[in-house]
Amino acid sequence: MPYKLVEIIQDTWPQIYRPSVSVNQSFMQQELIYKKVILSENECNIISNYILENENFIKSLGPDIYPGTTENSLTGRYSIFNFLNIEKVNHILEPKLRKIFNDLKLKYPIYVQCWANTYRKGDYINPHKHNPNNNPNQFMSANIFLQGNVEPGTKYFFNDNVKDIKNKKGEIFIFDSTLVHSVSPYQGNDIRITIAMDIHNEIEKYYSEEHCKSEYEFNKIRYYKFE
Ligand SMILES: [Fe+2]
Repeated sequence: MPYKLVEIIQDTWPQIYRPSVSVNQSFMQQELIYKKVILSENECNIISNYILENENFIKSLGPDIYPGTTENSLTGRYSIFNFLNIEKVNHILEPKLRKIFNDLKLKYPIYVQCWANTYRKGDYINPHKHNPNNNPNQFMSANIFLQGNVEPGTKYFFNDNVKDIKNKKGEIFIFDSTLVHSVSPYQGNDIRITIAMDIHNEIEKYYSEEHCKSEYEFNKIRYYKFE
């Protein structure tokens, strides 16, 4: 069965796709996808400027713990700085995310890990998924494209099909955390900037309450809580 990306590219969003495709060897299929332009050009610029102005500071907070990018990446600080904790960013992003969560009928509380990625010439991120398990619907991942050339796009691996999606400025793309994705080496002389997120809800389906507390409630640097 073909993947659903052709339909995603059409304009009838917001839509949720739950395709019933078969599980295939190393890559899991997507279970939920949503896309929408949610940020204006000005809002993208405000967040991008904040990211660039604070990039070195954030890098100084801890080591790059992620091996799938070029060295000393901002991405590799994903767990030690949450942009939703920054008022200037939160003021823009929080209400827009909350509206999406409501549209998707997600159950609160929702815990969001929110980090940023900067790609200068040659920077990339290897194919990866955010979920260490292979449990679709456990949590969702997302990205928002803030600035840069649309080439290369973000590659998504749907079963045996790889689709390179050209991002639009201010567009959020939400997908299942088991979906493998990557960005090829950036060729531009400017800086490609994106926000990435993991969105956890209904976690009690998978973990004990105690586990949720230790993972989310007690790690407010890493997770922002939507109540
Ligand atoms: Fe990612």
